[in-house]
Amino acid sequence: SVYEDEHIASKKVAYRISDIIKSKQRRGENAVLGLATGATPVEVYEELVRLHKEEGLSFKNVITFNLDEYYPMQPEAQQSYVKFMDENLFNHIDIRRDNIHIPDGTLKKEDIAEYCLAYEQKISAVGGLDFQILGIGRTGHIGFNEPGSAPNSGTRLVTLDDLTRRDASRDFGGKENVPTKAITMGIGTIFKAREIILMAWSKKKAPIIRKAVEGEISSNVPATYLQLSENVEFILDKDAASEL
Ligand code: GLP
Repeated sequence: SVYEDEHIASKKVAYRISDIIKSKQRRGENAVLGLATGATPVEVYEELVRLHKEEGLSFKNVITFNLDEYYPMQPEAQQSYVKFMDENLFNHIDIRRDNIHIPDGTLKKEDIAEYCLAYEQKISAVGGLDFQILGIGRTGHIGFNEPGSAPNSGTRLVTLDDLTRRDASRDFGGKENVPTKAITMGIGTIFKAREIILMAWSKKKAPIIRKAVEGEISSNVPATYLQLSENVEFILDKDAASEL
């Protein structure tokens, strides 16, 4: 769907999430959410915080799994996705800390593979993802699944694309400070979610949105894999949709 602007679109996504949480609450079940970082979902989180504070939306039954984290990364660093999620969402709602999962950027290299398997198993153990939010990088990455990622890939350590590191350089005060690696849920992990929403705003994303939606399905643009799934919706503002 294409919306007039990102503010309206972000509210729509927040209301959808709120509906899922509430319908699960009525059934006495947990809502399992896959969350993303970056500038794109910030207003969705703002709206969820508002729904919590002003309309009493509770997150007590919510379990979250974040898509990715830089590697290496200390959780208290300003650029960590732990910090991002705390500041933009978790510090302002009533979610239980032990229901929050974000890939650990502090692991020893030799422990990563096992950790990633356990991350997948934790998602399965709570019944799988009900809802997954995605942004898109200019390389066509979802999570940090860069070009070359396989459609059945699982959670793993990946190497970041040069363009991705350039795009992140402002946060890190120079590309040379951006980690070269990250831990990310795989395309296969994302695909298991029962509902997936990819959001994109602004003209800057228009060329990659055109490729993702209309381009040939290929590992060169990992987001094109989303064309294969029926549970995916693209939520765009007019600018991001302007090359479709
Ligand atoms: C990062 C994140 C992605 C995100 C992308 C786009 O690379 N790992 O999950 O989708 O950036 O970021 P932004 O929303 O800031 O454009």
